[in-house]
Amino acid sequence: MAKEKKEKVRKTLTGEIRKYSIKHVLGTLAHQIKTFKRDVALTWICVFLESGLEILIAFFIQFLLQRVRNNDLNGIITWAAIIALMAIAAAGFGILAGYWASSASAGFGRNLRQSMFEKVQTYSFKNIDKFSPASIVTRTTTDVSNVQFAFMMICRTVVRAPFMMIFALIMCFIMAPGLAWIFLVIIPVLLFLLMFIASKVHKRFVLIFNTYDELNESVEEDVDGIRVVKSFDRKGYHIGHFNKVSDFIYRNYVQNEKILSFNNPIMNLAIFAAMILISILGATIITQNVEVTQIEGVISASPLNLGVESLSSLFTYVMIILMSLMMVSMVYVMITIARNSAERIVEILDEDPDIKNKDNPVMEVKNGDVDFNHVYFGYNPNKYVLEDIDVHFKQGETIGIIGPTGSSKTSLVSLMARLYDVNEGEVKIGGVNVKDYDIQTLRDSVAVVLQKNVLFTGTIRDNLKWGKEDASDEEIWAACDIAQASEFLHNFPKGLDTNVVEGGSNVSGGQKQRLCIARALLKDPRILILDDSTSACDTHTDALIREGLSKTKPDVTKFIIAQRVLSIKDCDTILVLEAGGKIVDIGNNDELMKRCSVYRELYESQLGGGDFDVNE
Ligand SMILES: Nc1ncnc2c1ncn2[C@@H]1O[C@H](COP(=O)(O)OP(=O)(O)OP(=O)(O)O)[C@@H](O)[C@H]1O
Ligand SMILES: [Mg+2]
Repeated sequence: MAKEKKEKVRKTLTGEIRKYSIKHVLGTLAHQIKTFKRDVALTWICVFLESGLEILIAFFIQFLLQRVRNNDLNGIITWAAIIALMAIAAAGFGILAGYWASSASAGFGRNLRQSMFEKVQTYSFKNIDKFSPASIVTRTTTDVSNVQFAFMMICRTVVRAPFMMIFALIMCFIMAPGLAWIFLVIIPVLLFLLMFIASKVHKRFVLIFNTYDELNESVEEDVDGIRVVKSFDRKGYHIGHFNKVSDFIYRNYVQNEKILSFNNPIMNLAIFAAMILISILGATIITQNVEVTQIEGVISASPLNLGVESLSSLFTYVMIILMSLMMVSMVYVMITIARNSAERIVEILDEDPDIKNKDNPVMEVKNGDVDFNHVYFGYNPNKYVLEDIDVHFKQGETIGIIGPTGSSKTSLVSLMARLYDVNEGEVKIGGVNVKDYDIQTLRDSVAVVLQKNVLFTGTIRDNLKWGKEDASDEEIWAACDIAQASEFLHNFPKGLDTNVVEGGSNVSGGQKQRLCIARALLKDPRILILDDSTSACDTHTDALIREGLSKTKPDVTKFIIAQRVLSIKDCDTILVLEAGGKIVDIGNNDELMKRCSVYRELYESQLGGGDFDVNE
């Protein structure tokens, strides 16, 4: 894992896998600031005023000290009051800057998360397959937090650090041009060392954030499949895997902290070096003479008339300059971390949904005829899982699809609701290519009960209303009757108001399947696809559902995918698929029994020599 990640980091750092230019990343993110631009502007104004006051305070302190030396009580009180007022005002602006910066960054984070979430809703299954679900979670949470935090730092520092540094330097040059050259030596050396440290930790931070995906994947998989994990007693394996990934993150963090811990000593060293140099040189100048008592005199001071009081202001400026450098280096680290997160966010926002409405889409599905015209489809363009499928069905037909696992039954039916798009050929519904329909119209007309179906948190009624928002209880019960869900619902004390917990784990597998069928029926679709949707129901219930469907929904074209021959043998047409997604044969039960050995073997292995009454 580490080797792969290192290679990924190397490529990231060398720009080999940098997908986006800085300009594009910043442009995309800046667009998300939206209404919070005002808060950013207010932050900058407050920071500007706060920094300006701090610089002036440092400058005015020398006047206070002069009054102290001269025992000028009135002067002391006046300057102390001026400085105190300025300090209070600076603190006030600091608080306001903090408030606006937090508001701007929290708003920016909210906008980012919302935009990403909305974008993910437009993704097709193919888009989702591209990012793992865990990665989407990391990107919308951890990565957004990184960018949000960096944004806050930038809001506060981008104005403050350069402003403070430049003004402090100017003041130093004005007050003591003979000493200010010290900064010209110290600043580049310090900057080089801080940036060197920042670039060292950056590599590891990239590594850490890439590993977060894996950590989230591990948690998600474990929690999602907690029942299976427990039943197979795989707890040890899962804990082991999780600990390995989490240890990896820990070790890299520790390494980074070790490197970052050099920041402070280097800073202190630079501060002390600057102070010692300034003290030695300043003291030499002072002892060489000259009194400085007048304000005007200080402003126009030459190196030869530097006073003790000015020296104290100078020390404050030293601190300001070096702290600003420290801030710049910290922000640099933050930005390098956030750049990686920003790119991962932009990747989500830039992803082009590969299934979308064309211009002037068809808004009505006229009938339930289905035509697969020489269809080729693959999840990966180099490997088709369906090849040259050319089959045609009429409205109202019931079509059974049977075949071994992995024979592309699910893939075939997914094409009708455009969950995926064909690679070649076309799928037509009601005589119109599915790509020409408005997606919502198409999906309302083609109801799919997916093989891996889920219920969502809320009441059973809420879940069923996904099929039809304004469905009356009468309509809901009618759908439940066909799906054979009414009986067990009547036995629930709260009936339709029973709460479903996340994932629907408080209803049984067979009950969940029946509720999912009822939900699909409420759509009143033209085509109904049941993908192994009665596998957890007993054969009797299974038969009752099919009977109900054929009686109450004669005009609906029904596709029934099943592993049980019994579930499809009475269908008008049966499609037999083989591994690799090829059609072995197509016909009704009698025809297939006569000419299709694959079907006959399936039939005989499952039902033995004779048939039996499903209602038994
Ligand atoms: N999202 C996906 N990404 C990549 N490959 C996939 C994806 N879904 C399915 N496949 C592959 O496509 C092939 C057909 O899968 P499909 O799910 O259509 O089979 P199936 O007949 O429905 O199987 P089952 O009876 O187990 O439900 C399999 O080889 C499978 O590995
Ligand atoms: Mg399947």
